[in-house]
Amino acid sequence: MDRKWWHDKVAYQIYPKSFYDSNGDGIGDIPGIIGKLDYLADLGIDILWLSPCYQSPLADQGYDISDYYNIDPRFGTMEDMERLIAEAKKRGICILMDLVVNHCSDEHEWFKRACEDPDGKYGNYFYLRDKKEGELPTNWRSYFGGPVWDDLPGTDKQYLHVFHKKQPDLNWENPEVREEVYKNINWWLDKGLGGFRIDAIINIKKALPFHDYEPDREDGLCSIHAMLRGAKGIGTFLGEMRDRTFKKYDAFSVGEVFNEKPEEIPDFIGDDGYFSSMFDFNETIFGGSENGWYDATPITPDDYKKCCFEAQAKVGDIGFLSNIIENHDEPRGVSRYIPEGDCCTESKKMLAALNFMLRGLPFIYQGQELGMENVPFTTIDEVDDISTHDEYRVALEAGLSPEEALRAVSKFSRDNARTPMQWTDGANAGFTTGTPWLKVNPNYPSINAAAQVQDADSVYSFYKKLIALRKDPVYKETIVYGALEPVWEERHNLMAYYRKGERTLLVVGNYQKEPQEIELQKGYKKALLNNYKDIAQDKGIIRLQGYQVLVLEM
Ligand code: GLC
Ligand code: CA
Repeated sequence: MDRKWWHDKVAYQIYPKSFYDSNGDGIGDIPGIIGKLDYLADLGIDILWLSPCYQSPLADQGYDISDYYNIDPRFGTMEDMERLIAEAKKRGICILMDLVVNHCSDEHEWFKRACEDPDGKYGNYFYLRDKKEGELPTNWRSYFGGPVWDDLPGTDKQYLHVFHKKQPDLNWENPEVREEVYKNINWWLDKGLGGFRIDAIINIKKALPFHDYEPDREDGLCSIHAMLRGAKGIGTFLGEMRDRTFKKYDAFSVGEVFNEKPEEIPDFIGDDGYFSSMFDFNETIFGGSENGWYDATPITPDDYKKCCFEAQAKVGDIGFLSNIIENHDEPRGVSRYIPEGDCCTESKKMLAALNFMLRGLPFIYQGQELGMENVPFTTIDEVDDISTHDEYRVALEAGLSPEEALRAVSKFSRDNARTPMQWTDGANAGFTTGTPWLKVNPNYPSINAAAQVQDADSVYSFYKKLIALRKDPVYKETIVYGALEPVWEERHNLMAYYRKGERTLLVVGNYQKEPQEIELQKGYKKALLNNYKDIAQDKGIIRLQGYQVLVLEM
């Protein structure tokens, strides 16, 4: 495998709207991020991915872009963005922006022009079909609910949107669209970005010609995945994009890729792949149901282990996965992957170490380093996220009571991760001096950065140690490039693996509150990390405490 500049890095995702508000309007902004760069540098972050802050009506919180060349005034100005890139660089941090090009906003100039003249140049930027009374062009269900087709305002046509109706899909079959995309990417890379996180990219190739699939719910529609399974040839677009943009700049690119087939992995992230890396979503998609969130199966510690190892085995040394515990589309990982009632400092650290020491590039989502938890929503009105509202409706339609539906969607709501970052125990968790755009998690007096930065035993300090270990010249080679080999795979509530390279490390976590023992044949040289003060051991037998995690040099 070719060695790349980003392999040994640690990445961090910022959701700008909820990170830090510098001017009291209740919305996080770019000057706010600049103000916190020292915090991030001190933690040891090298790569910073910003969720979108381009001009946008914020129908899907910025994943609906109305101008790819401008910053939304709520987030700041282009000068702020340039200053962020420069200030980050001074601290050895590079910035990734979010590349959202499966769709734009219905308020983008292109879409407005398509409405004015659907048969003209810009009509062909989108997927338009003639409107027929009582009949849709296809029966595909959008990700956020309802059909993917809506009327193109002022015309007798309909347009396709696989996400929200304010997110019309761009027609990638049209070379002019692709040119526009590449031009924009290069324009940003010229500004000094390190690269991009690439949104929803698997959707850019549709199965042509369009046709219906077997309905999978009573609404007569089918999941968009039915169509995507039949879409062939995305590689032509992705390869072209790589050659025309990222490759020329040696930029980093990480794809939001779902449902790739094992044989496609070398094309996606092998040497000269379409992307530098792609996220491992094997854990996040576990238990998902076509019926909706209310019908999902919770994930157990044994499932979690299996998902991680499956993903690791699938990729092997072909390339680099980007490993996450959570992101802005997922609930908080500590609330999801730690059994109910067991969420505590020890178990949070265990989850952190088990994930962080996997082979691949670790991504930390804002607040994860503090062990931020899901939000106790008391009514659906407290929820902003469009996707949660849709899933709530689906749950009600399936016959759940309003209380049951709220409980079911609360577990998965994207707003769990979108509540303001908890900086201090002061008003609004120190996020804003105004009224926060989304309710602050009421647990901020006990979970906040100010307290944890000073506490050597905090979740934050543990993350800092994990990062420092990854960068330690003695262990870096092994942690970054060493092979991953599961151990004691069949043992219940125990997750353990070797990292084998120049050295051999054993990572072992007791994924339950009851103690459990492991036997080491040859003992170990050194304990590199431990979330407890001591290791209880006797003649090669280690008695792990509840949720104890160890990184041992063998
Ligand atoms: C991606 C984003 C998500 C967004 C969707 C549509 O999945 O992560 O937040 O809603 O794409 O752009
Ligand atoms: Ca602000």
